[in-house]
Amino acid sequence: MITNKIETFLKEALQDLEYEADSVEVIVSNRSDISDYQYDGSFKLAKVLHKSPIEIGTTIVEKLKEKEDIEKYFQKIEVLPPGFINFTLSNEWINETINEMAKSEKFNISLPKKETIVIDYGGPNIAKPLHVGHLRSAIVGESIKRMLKYMGHDVISDVHLGDYGLQIGEVIYGIQEKRISLEDITLEDLEKIYPEISGRCKEDEELKEKCASITKDLQDGSEEYQPYFERIKEISGQDILRIYKYLDVSFDLWQGESDAYPYIEPLTKELESMNLLTESEGAKVVFVNKESDAKELPPMMYQKKNGAYLYGTTDLATIYERRQKYHPDDIIYLADFRQSLHFETVFRVCEKLGYTKDMKLEHLAFGTVNGTDGKPFKTRAGNSPKLDSLFKEVKESFLKSNEKNENMTEQDLDIIVNAIIKFADLQNNREKDYIFDINKFSSVVGKTGPYILYTYLRIASILKKEQYTIDELNKEIYDSTDREVRRKLIELSSTLNHAVELRMPSILANYLYELCVNINAFYEKNHINNLEDRNKKENWLFLLDLGNRILKEMLDLLGIKIPERM
Ligand code: ARG
Repeated sequence: MITNKIETFLKEALQDLEYEADSVEVIVSNRSDISDYQYDGSFKLAKVLHKSPIEIGTTIVEKLKEKEDIEKYFQKIEVLPPGFINFTLSNEWINETINEMAKSEKFNISLPKKETIVIDYGGPNIAKPLHVGHLRSAIVGESIKRMLKYMGHDVISDVHLGDYGLQIGEVIYGIQEKRISLEDITLEDLEKIYPEISGRCKEDEELKEKCASITKDLQDGSEEYQPYFERIKEISGQDILRIYKYLDVSFDLWQGESDAYPYIEPLTKELESMNLLTESEGAKVVFVNKESDAKELPPMMYQKKNGAYLYGTTDLATIYERRQKYHPDDIIYLADFRQSLHFETVFRVCEKLGYTKDMKLEHLAFGTVNGTDGKPFKTRAGNSPKLDSLFKEVKESFLKSNEKNENMTEQDLDIIVNAIIKFADLQNNREKDYIFDINKFSSVVGKTGPYILYTYLRIASILKKEQYTIDELNKEIYDSTDREVRRKLIELSSTLNHAVELRMPSILANYLYELCVNINAFYEKNHINNLEDRNKKENWLFLLDLGNRILKEMLDLLGIKIPERM
């Protein structure tokens, strides 16, 4: 990685000067017209050494310039007032780096130490319709999974279906009340029954008790309810699968909360042996508060008074199971911010059990998807934003934006719908709310999925018509738009590493957007099809080919496919 290399140079220089700096960090220059990278450490050092930053900067630069073949790497190293050190890479180094990228698998990206990572995302609930919140978990989770795999980790993905909560009791109650026979139940029935009964339960405490006791009996293996459970799971599961298939989201494990039940018994024994379970008003809880807490954390409810287990219990039992089966170094959860307390509590119990000594647990929270009115997103179809109606609206909006699109195949249109929805989401920092503006995100101009795909297809069509024969770039860079493309290309490794470390696909999404902006600016300035200079043309085609290969492979990490035409 370029930045690492510059940091190494700097560290050596600082050592030679006997300057102490605990960390040396080089960043991409915020004045790309002046330099490529910058180091701002002179300011901190100046305070310690009681000198001016410019003086420190000058001394460091002088030291750097003494290094053997430093000019091979940099065209210019200079201090600018009040003390920033600026680095401009040599064309030779840029091109060498690109040549390495083009030759090696995975573009010569530096790979981290391999880990076994379980990623738990999607999290749809049986018998309840999928909503936009679940979409975010699926999209962001899928992308993080793909990035982790790309970096060489052993990744196990689990959908973790919500299949043992109150809703299952509510739906079974509704089916029985309406005397629908098991064979005749349809998805439409489930879609009607759930909102009705759950609405009534909110008003009617007795009914709620009744439904809760159905869930409890089911958990205990009731022969009466088991067939209902299986049928509901089958119907609802098929629909969930259909939507995930449309979204190109897939899981290694299709486990649910109910699958964790066999692990509750050994888990309970373990908790008991460590005296972690406490009786409280007939229920069993685990205390998790710490002295250092500013606000007291409520205990984790482990088992209700009626004997039923809860959401936290199944999550804990699932962790027990995953440790036994996969010995993960890390378990990652994608769930909305409102579940932060839940995960904090579960993780603390794991800490008490000693699990976190050899395993990380991460809750990657995400914000809400809002509509243009600033309120949680709804489609025109009504107050339950079913995903099918969302897909349909996006498709219509895209078709409306450009007449040419009417001749596109259904398959390509579905790819575009995916790109629109996914890129809209993934370009945002996942922790933040964002506004899903269908018209804005389906346009081919702006920071959108269609813009990226359009750029790719434009370059692909040039490369189809024009072949190149070189297998390396020569030493030249021809103009500033060309240089910008190359600079962007060599940032791939640090960008991807950064995105993976922070579990932020938005870093990669924004990189791809910027790469496309650079490529388009370059292409618009240099209509390379009509170029006479063969040598230049070959170099440029080589560059564009690499750019497109990167685009394609990185789009795949965002879960975005490329259409044949658009
Ligand atoms: N089913 C949950 C929901 O819809 C999300 C599950 C998240 N994963 C987990 N292991 N708790 O809110």
